[in-house]
Amino acid sequence: MCGIVAYVGNKQVVPLLLEGLKRLEYRGYDSAGVAVITSSGMKVQRAVGRVSVLESQIEKAPGFEGCTGIAHTRWATHGSPSVPNAHPHSHKTSDGYLVSLVHNGIIENYVSLRKWLEAKGHKFTSETDTEVIAVLIAEFYKGDLEAAVKAALREVTGAYAIAVICEREPHTLICARKGSPLIIGIADKSYVVASDASAIVSHTTQVITLDDYQVAKLCAGPNDKYNPVAEASGDTSGGGGPWKVDFKTTTIDDVPVTRDVQELEFDLAQIELGQFEHFMHKEIMEQPESIRTCLRGRIDLRDNRVVLGGLASFTRELVRARHFILTAQGTAFHAGLIGEYLLEDIAKVPARCHYASEFRYRNPIIEEGSITVAISQSGETADTLAALREAKDRGSLALGVVNVVGSSIARETDAGVYLHVGPEIGVASTKAFLGQVLVLTLISLYVGRRRYLSAEQLHNYLEELERLPDMVSKVLEQSDAIRTATEKCLDRNNWLFLGRGYHYPVAVEGALKLKELSYIHAEGMPAAEMKHGPIALIDKGMPVVFVATQGSQYDKVISNIEEVRARGGRVIAVATEGDTQITRYSESVFYVPHVSEALQPMLTVVPLQLVAYHAAVLRGHDVDKPRNLAKSVTVE
Ligand code: G6P
Repeated sequence: MCGIVAYVGNKQVVPLLLEGLKRLEYRGYDSAGVAVITSSGMKVQRAVGRVSVLESQIEKAPGFEGCTGIAHTRWATHGSPSVPNAHPHSHKTSDGYLVSLVHNGIIENYVSLRKWLEAKGHKFTSETDTEVIAVLIAEFYKGDLEAAVKAALREVTGAYAIAVICEREPHTLICARKGSPLIIGIADKSYVVASDASAIVSHTTQVITLDDYQVAKLCAGPNDKYNPVAEASGDTSGGGGPWKVDFKTTTIDDVPVTRDVQELEFDLAQIELGQFEHFMHKEIMEQPESIRTCLRGRIDLRDNRVVLGGLASFTRELVRARHFILTAQGTAFHAGLIGEYLLEDIAKVPARCHYASEFRYRNPIIEEGSITVAISQSGETADTLAALREAKDRGSLALGVVNVVGSSIARETDAGVYLHVGPEIGVASTKAFLGQVLVLTLISLYVGRRRYLSAEQLHNYLEELERLPDMVSKVLEQSDAIRTATEKCLDRNNWLFLGRGYHYPVAVEGALKLKELSYIHAEGMPAAEMKHGPIALIDKGMPVVFVATQGSQYDKVISNIEEVRARGGRVIAVATEGDTQITRYSESVFYVPHVSEALQPMLTVVPLQLVAYHAAVLRGHDVDKPRNLAKSVTVE
């Protein structure tokens, strides 16, 4: 939800900012903008639409040469996507210097701040909450950008990651965060700041992160001119003389803090499309490999155990747990629903998954022995973070099942297990879902073995898990057949997805994937629930997708299929290899290898991901950036 990238150093900044914005575009894509300090002052360009629109505007507008700049790609919250609402937001200080700012987050008290600033004579040009920060900084600016930013941030409530520059201090970049993500890369003679690592790794792998309420002052400039609080030097070329770089970190109350430089573990190929046309397709196809990396070092067949280093110091609490509270949003919530089944079935501990947005406001009951598990790909989802804090405040042990290392949720939990499935760029989550279900499976086995699961039962699961990547590959081989079957149903704008037991959440996830990518209306639900209303929707030709693998409820699902067929519905089934009977009832069948019921969701979801992917491509939609969506929802 909004991506920011900023740079101060010795290189021309515009190409670098545009490259960074393209990498971050999945975070928001309704408008974009850059601000650059040039030899003739601040130059700002903003455009509605994709980064490519901004790029072509800048190509036609000369004079964007400079080595200090900020950029933003937006997902609108306050104010429609328009040029005035696009970032950067700029405002003049009392002595006539322009301050420019990019922001990711939400300023909750912007209405009162805006009134206060308007009463002081400031004019606003946008409908955004962000503009108040730019105006506040300009209001407080007395020749020291860092001091002005801190003064402004002491006034605001809400969430922010910001990057700020000022014409008067051409070699200085100030950034700060509270609640929203921000990473500072330390590159050769320069600093590059971004919402996530994907916009940094092509420059450096040395990074520092900030905690909430912390501010970094980053300076890079020619030695003779380098003076962060000097009069405007006019020299923004970045050339000549020895080069000086310097950074300092403090809190917004000016208390010095030390931040360690960390090494980013990131492979550039992970964020490149390679042979694929879309990130979503790449991420679906690389699931066998992401399962392998997620499992690496975690299953030990020789000693017959699950190794979860992140949970080791809480094993006692886990074994004695009386209740698991799983909390998440979106696709991660569906992984949590599967987690309910896994924890109850394998670990024999009661478990409930809650929408984080509901959980946090419902006055939740946290009793002794409750363990809360926040599930999130990004680790930044505002509601999930808030639910986690609520649970912690009420005394719950808090665990994280998170993909992005060092993200807010990962940092605020007591312990956790990373997914290690690599960066997920496609807005619709696929490989992270599989990773979340896999980690929840591992946690269930870890706890289960210490409760009621026999050594033999564990051994069987571990053997199956080891074969899981190959099984997923077999499912992926059916991609062309899935495309053909999907194409036949694309004339219909209402679909149903049905499943029982472990496959009820899979059905809901399949429906979500289809609706978010193809804009076809789809509902997912327990197969038995169909009779209580949705059956009224079924008419001749309506596509109904059944997850109908062989397992404890197979016969019941077949009965539901009969009910749909009797009303003319068109049945698409996901079934177990070797099930010939099901072809009698279904127009199309996709097969998954046979595996224990508890592990089946990691196979049965794959054809549904492919249905959604192909539907979106066939309908000509932007698969990686579906309309109105954002990858990481950092507002409530
Ligand atoms: C957004 C994304 C979804 C994702 C959800 C939760 O809605 O578009 O793909 O499942 O947020 O995100 P998280 O990062 O917490 O898993």
